[in-house]
Amino acid sequence: MPRSRISGSLSRRLLFSYSNLYRELHDKESGMNAQPQASDLKTVKERQQGAWASGDYAMLGSTFVVISERLCEAVDLRAGQEVLDVATGSGNTALAAARRFCGVTGVDYVPDLLKRARERAAAERLRVAFQEGDAENIPFPDASFDVVLSTIGAMFAPDQERTAGELLRVCRSGGKIGMANWASDGFIGEMLRVHARYLPPPPGLKPPVLWGTEERVRELFGDGITSLQNTRRVFSFRYRSVEHYWDFMRTHNGPTIKAFQALDATARENLTGELMDLTRRFNRSGDETMVVPADYLEIVATRR
Ligand SMILES: C[S@@+](CC[C@H](N)C(=O)[O-])C[C@H]1O[C@@H](n2cnc3c(N)ncnc32)[C@H](O)[C@@H]1O
Repeated sequence: MPRSRISGSLSRRLLFSYSNLYRELHDKESGMNAQPQASDLKTVKERQQGAWASGDYAMLGSTFVVISERLCEAVDLRAGQEVLDVATGSGNTALAAARRFCGVTGVDYVPDLLKRARERAAAERLRVAFQEGDAENIPFPDASFDVVLSTIGAMFAPDQERTAGELLRVCRSGGKIGMANWASDGFIGEMLRVHARYLPPPPGLKPPVLWGTEERVRELFGDGITSLQNTRRVFSFRYRSVEHYWDFMRTHNGPTIKAFQALDATARENLTGELMDLTRRFNRSGDETMVVPADYLEIVATRR
């Protein structure tokens, strides 16, 4: 239904970085199983990069610090270890590792977010090397790190096999890979599904939330790991109200901003209504504020 209401050029269909969610399920149901072309993946990534670079993700990012702190405990970091944070954004996980006296590097493909990460590190007098880098082409030699981490970051890279290969490649044998990935069910999964109906992704593109399932993580890491620990966790979005949350998202979160820009007025209104309804359904605050639990999968893998 909403498909007819969007301004539907291919470039717009590729625009929203979340929008590949659930496409695969749809493809399976409809008997399609197209593989995206390499050129499609490249275009998707360029547009995702533009989306993350717009707005000010750092404002949202700082609300997720607890995910990074928990992940650093889950991988049982040891002071002095060399740690890489992939898709570091404004540095949440890199900073959490630096607080544990590790030697830390953070990479992301959005220079402005790295700038914010450096400001945060400076404010805490933490030493972290932040540099530009693509999760699908990590700019370090094989086996450079004891621990490779990514919180709700690498999961968004469109070529999942390549990304998994890169995480494995830069981790030394016996080292650990830790990730926090939004689950395919729960609030974020539902939210992404709503978005995907308004901005359908190219056929065959893998939904990012597949990284939030043990089955897919095992498939992606294959025999590159010797053990995998999966823990289902909950992050609670806490805002003054549901309206406050969506106002915040539409002001600061690049992918949300770009999604709304790509739609005409009617579709924008409908999308807003659906997102507000969904969020109200998940809201467990019992008062005028918003407390929305969002499930994610925390994984700790040991590199073979
Ligand atoms: C939801 S944010 C998470 C940021 C940070 N890890 C955190 O926990 O706050 C997703 C991040 O992934 C980055 N990202 C997505 N795809 C990427 C890629 N292929 N290479 C590098 N960074 C990527 C975005 O620029 C953005 O900073």
